[in-house]
Amino acid sequence: MKLFLDTAHLEDIKRVAAMGLLDGVTTNPTLISREEGKFKDILYNICEVVKGPVNAEVVSLKADEMIAEGRELAKLHENIVVKIPMTPDGLVATKTLSSEGIPVNVTLIFSPSQALLAAKAGAAYVSPFLGRLDDISHVGMELVQQIIAIYDNYGFSTEVLAASLRHPMHVVEAALAGADIATLPPKVFDQLFKHPLTDIGIDRFLADWNKVKDRLLGQ
Ligand code: G3P
Repeated sequence: MKLFLDTAHLEDIKRVAAMGLLDGVTTNPTLISREEGKFKDILYNICEVVKGPVNAEVVSLKADEMIAEGRELAKLHENIVVKIPMTPDGLVATKTLSSEGIPVNVTLIFSPSQALLAAKAGAAYVSPFLGRLDDISHVGMELVQQIIAIYDNYGFSTEVLAASLRHPMHVVEAALAGADIATLPPKVFDQLFKHPLTDIGIDRFLADWNKVKDRLLGQ
């Protein structure tokens, strides 16, 4: 499973990239709005740090404007994936950009029928938003399972990018369901490391080692 960071915050991206665990980045207009500077500069700086896809979302709603915006974004850097919302215009733009070799992530996916259409339009990725479905008392993970089953039935190569993940169990469940990618806020990424028994285990091992360290090291 590939792990992406769901942020435009360069310091977090650099920190995780330096660990060698970062496969890509997703951004959206909300995440971009929290950062200082110009949109294209923010994206370019992220692309220079990440050795993998960097998702940049269009803000137009008409197909021809999305296509123009997508082409501009793709010119910024070879790592750019153009994120397009799931609408009829969005899928027209997806078809055109994909046919030009520009990878598209169809975003704001909340149903399996939307994911089916996005794959047929040539999307390289689809982003089901799990947390936002859970927020309204739906089981977001069922959507991931259904999309994977549909894509397996017909051999679609569109990758399933589990998004709107709010806690470590979302990541684990997405992995169990077979999602290709999970995109995580930095806070959730950090939570994946933690287990109290790991900390207790390290403390005990070091305490026992330190008790007889001089003998063990022959000092
Ligand atoms: O990038 C899209 C997605 O991950 C948004 O998450 O927490 O705003 O629902 P959230």
